[in-house]
Amino acid sequence: MADFKKEIERRRTFAIISHPDAGKTTLTEKFLLYGGAINLAGSVKGKKTAKHAVSDWMEIEKERGISVTSSVMQFNYKDYCINILDTPGHQDFSEDTYRTLMAADSAVMVIDASKGVEAQTIKLFKVCVLRHIPIFTFINKLDREAQDPFDLMEDIESVLGIHTCPINWPIGSGKEFKGVYDRQTHHIHAFTENNNGMKAASDRDLTMDSPELEQELGSELYERLVDDIELLDGASDELDMDLVSKGQLSPVFFGSALNNFGIELFLNYFLEMTSSPLPRMSDSGLIDTFSPDFSAFVFKIQANMNKAHRDRIAFMRICSGKFDADKEVYHVQGKKKLRLSQPQQLMAQERKVISEAYAGDIIGVFDPGIFSIGDTVCTPGKKFAFEGIPTFAPEHFAKVRQVDTMKRKQFIKGISQIAQEGAIQIFQEYNTGMEEIIVGVVGVLQFDVLKHRLLNEYGVEIRLETMPHEYIRWIANKEDFDTNKIIGTSDMKRIKDLKGNPLLLFVHEWAVQSVLDKNKGLELSEFGRW
Ligand code: G4P
Repeated sequence: MADFKKEIERRRTFAIISHPDAGKTTLTEKFLLYGGAINLAGSVKGKKTAKHAVSDWMEIEKERGISVTSSVMQFNYKDYCINILDTPGHQDFSEDTYRTLMAADSAVMVIDASKGVEAQTIKLFKVCVLRHIPIFTFINKLDREAQDPFDLMEDIESVLGIHTCPINWPIGSGKEFKGVYDRQTHHIHAFTENNNGMKAASDRDLTMDSPELEQELGSELYERLVDDIELLDGASDELDMDLVSKGQLSPVFFGSALNNFGIELFLNYFLEMTSSPLPRMSDSGLIDTFSPDFSAFVFKIQANMNKAHRDRIAFMRICSGKFDADKEVYHVQGKKKLRLSQPQQLMAQERKVISEAYAGDIIGVFDPGIFSIGDTVCTPGKKFAFEGIPTFAPEHFAKVRQVDTMKRKQFIKGISQIAQEGAIQIFQEYNTGMEEIIVGVVGVLQFDVLKHRLLNEYGVEIRLETMPHEYIRWIANKEDFDTNKIIGTSDMKRIKDLKGNPLLLFVHEWAVQSVLDKNKGLELSEFGRW
């Protein structure tokens, strides 16, 4: 029993979020390097191999095994067992990316020091805020010309609306980058560049009193550091761990992932400051992570490679207890006892079948088509359902036209199954049947995926007619409003999802506010529910 508790306590499950190119892959790779999960930097599935052109879906499909692998990685570091959840970027960006954050207990936000907060970071950040999970900021690429660190703090605070507390502070940047000052220990970690990034850049430990410090930094940087420290101590937010745990204050770190500088420092603080797996809300109240009864929820479903079988992998986040592959579990929504088939976990690049796992872990199980996103599995006889997972606002919409109308049945089946996996959302206009379907996606690549999969897996050819609409809102208080009576704007379209929930589509963002102004009491939401 003591071991069971210890196993859960030592787990840390987090996602790394960033705008593409900020250095998420590089940082992940360095983490794995410290954990001894890989031997050489450069061996994590790099961006280069993952750079999918939109037309490359065939290739993506061939690589599916790999992309499954990259969705979560587990490794040990010191006494910790770390689960990193990957949030794909670029064209791969999809609703899955958002949903992955539902399985994390905290997030690491990587920001490029020369660019500050960028578009994709803002989108992912909003989901972290929705969940009130702690957010740790790593400001990367200090070895390049960077914005002033005070301006970067200001940028994070004003754009994202979160308070910041620098845990360390950079000394210079670009060619002048000399290291970081640790505000907790008052030590300076001096940076000397190494050229290959394979090993850590040398990280010598100095204090503010070290006689060689001023000479080492040069008098200008030395004086600026003294001033900065004084300013920070006087003006920056205190490190209030209660606010950190609520996601209202972000501890900030500086470094260079490529040069492996500041990474270990960051990792050590981060692991200490984050908590072990957090309890989750259910219809029976909060579920204690340390309860001996196993429970988990499905947060992602991925179509498998074997087209002939249309089987899928369901990813589950274990929320309480211990998973034992020999024991039956109860699938709450399916109302059935079952044994989870081929449970697997991902260790860096390897997939391995497992026999046990603990709260905080992510497991992938073979899914013959029974699971839906948000489903709960638990110990038989102790049933409850976890709180549902939100659906996220798609930003691209298209009307789907079927080329061969004789294949109606296959079309409906195919598009419904793909929507059930959560890669696309489907909607209808009022007063039309299934012949007029609107597809909404978070990333445009999903349009090509849909086209390709319908043709290859269901033998159905479609044409997509993209729509100018980009903003969708669920009506939060639909009981109080007759959708037909909502006073709209000229660019507004009324649609419904497959459950009949009313939604509004807009071409322009300003129109959302305009409709709110015209319809007093109307509440619109960017999130729906599965
Ligand atoms: P991503 O996953 O967030 O998209 O970013 P990724 O780690 O792939 O990094 C994007 C680019 O930034 C890569 O260069 C990477 O080497 C570089 N980079 C990451 N961290 C640092 C850093 O601390 N300093 C500097 N100077 N560069 C950094 P690339 O040329 O696009 O790719 P590659 O040829 O290095 O693979």
